Amino acid sequence: MSGKAVLKLEGKEYEFDTLVGSEGEKAIDFTKLRARTGYVGFDPGYGNTGSCRSSITFVDGEKGILRYRGYPIEEIAEHATFLETAYLLIHGDLPTAQQLDAFVSDVSNHTMLHEDIKRFYAGFPKKAHPMAVSSAVAGALSAFYPEHLDPAKDQDLNKAIIRLIAKLPTIISYAYKHSAGQPFMYPRNNLDYASNLLRMMFATPCEEYEVDETVAKALDILLILHADHEQNCSTSTVRLVGSSMSNLFASVSAGISALWGPLHGGANQKVVEMLESIASGEGSAEVFLEKAKSRDDTTRLMGFGHRVYKNYDPRATIIKKACSDVLEKLGIHSKLLEIAVRLEEIALSDEYFVSRRLYPNVDFYSGIIYQAINFPVNLFTALFAMGRLPGWISQWVEMHDDKGFKIGRPRQIYEGATQRPWKPLEERL
Ligand code: SDX
Repeated sequence: MSGKAVLKLEGKEYEFDTLVGSEGEKAIDFTKLRARTGYVGFDPGYGNTGSCRSSITFVDGEKGILRYRGYPIEEIAEHATFLETAYLLIHGDLPTAQQLDAFVSDVSNHTMLHEDIKRFYAGFPKKAHPMAVSSAVAGALSAFYPEHLDPAKDQDLNKAIIRLIAKLPTIISYAYKHSAGQPFMYPRNNLDYASNLLRMMFATPCEEYEVDETVAKALDILLILHADHEQNCSTSTVRLVGSSMSNLFASVSAGISALWGPLHGGANQKVVEMLESIASGEGSAEVFLEKAKSRDDTTRLMGFGHRVYKNYDPRATIIKKACSDVLEKLGIHSKLLEIAVRLEEIALSDEYFVSRRLYPNVDFYSGIIYQAINFPVNLFTALFAMGRLPGWISQWVEMHDDKGFKIGRPRQIYEGATQRPWKPLEERL
C-alpha cells in the first residue's frame, strides 16, 4: 500500500509517493526530489535514508528483533549451521538436505588458496594486522580468477561466491600463522567449517589440534550471529563498490576495510582491550563509565550503543549465554566476563546510558568467547568479517539482481569558496 507525502516549498506544493515495507517500515520516495524541487535531502550518516529495497534481513531496533529471510535469529542460532545460514541469506530460503550437502561439499572443495597466493604472506610484516592482510588477499582473488571480474558477464557467479566463503577462513588463518612464524596448515575437507578454521589456526605440523565440539559449535553460532545486519556501514560499502560494476572480490575487500573501524566491527577488539585495562587496575568499572559519559573525554563504552538497536541487541543476549556455556565447559573463570557483566549492570541503571537507549551490542561479549578459544585479540574483527561474508555477498547479489540499480553517487551541500581569480605564485604571501 502506498500513500502520498506533500512537501510545501517556496510557496509550492509537491506530492511524493510513500512506500511501506512488509514489516510496516515507511519511506517517502525522494528519487525525483532534486529534479522536481531543486533541493536534495541532507542526512549525514544516512540515519534517515533508505538506500535500497531489500528482502534479506529485517531489524526492528525498538523491539530488538533480527530476522534473516523472515526467520528469527534466535531460531536460526538454535537450529542452523553457519553454512546453512549462508545458503539461506544468499539463495533466499532454507536449503533442502540435498542442496545443503551440495553447498557444503562445494565449499569444502574450494578451501585451498592458489599456491602463488601463499607467497603474498612473505611480503607482509609479522605485525601486520589481520584485517589489512585479509582485505589485501581477498581483493587479490580478483587477480587469480579473471572470469569473475565483470559481474555482467560472470557465467559462474556462484563459483565466485563459493570461492570467497571457502577461502576466507584459510586467508585469515594464514595471516595468523604468518604473524606467529608458524607454517600454514592446509584445510581439511573432512572437517566442518568452524572446525576447519580452528585446526588451521591452532594445529602445527608437530601436533594435531583436537577440536572441542562445544568450542566449534560456539564459533559456528558466533558466525551465524554476525552473518548479516541490513544496511550497516560495511554492507553499504560492499553495495556502493559493487554499484560501479566492480567485481565481488574487490567489493568484499572494501567491506573488510570498512568493518575494521572501531566504531563498527573493530569494536570487539576494543571491548577486550577496554576490559583488560580495567582488569589490570588502570581504573575500576565505575571510573571507566564516568569517562565514557564525559563529553570532554573521547572514551566510549565499547560494545555499547547502536545506530538501530535502541533496545538490547538480540545477538548480545545469545552471545552472553554462549559465553557462559563455553567458559563453563572449558572450566575457565573469566575475569573479563565478570567485569563485562558488572559494566552492563551499572550502565543499564545509569541515566546517561538509559536516556540515550544504549545497550550491549553484538560486540560486547563476543571477544570474551574468542579469547577463551585462544584467538589473538587482533584477529577478532577478522572473525567478524568471516561471519559477515555471506551477508555482504547476499546484499551484493540482491543489488545486481535488480536490473534497475544505479551507481551510488550521493550529492552534497557545497560550503566552500565561491569563484575567485587565479593568484600567481609571487602574489601568494
Ligand atoms: C556494529 O550498523 C550495524 O548494524 C552495525 C553492527 C552490524 O552488525 O553490522 O551491529 C555491528 O558496528 C555494532 C556497533 C559497534 N560499535 C561500538 O560498540 C562502538 C561504541 N558505540 C558507539 O560508538 C555508537 O553507539 C555507535 C557508533 C555504535 C552508534 O553511534 P550513533 O548511532 O551515531 O550514535 P551517536 O554516536 O550519535 O550517540 C548518541 C549519543 C551521543 O551522546 P550525545 O552527543 O547525545 O550526548 O550516545 C552517546 C554519544 O556520545 N554514545 C555513547 C556510546 N554510544 C553512543 N556514549 C558512550 N559510550 C558509547 N558506546
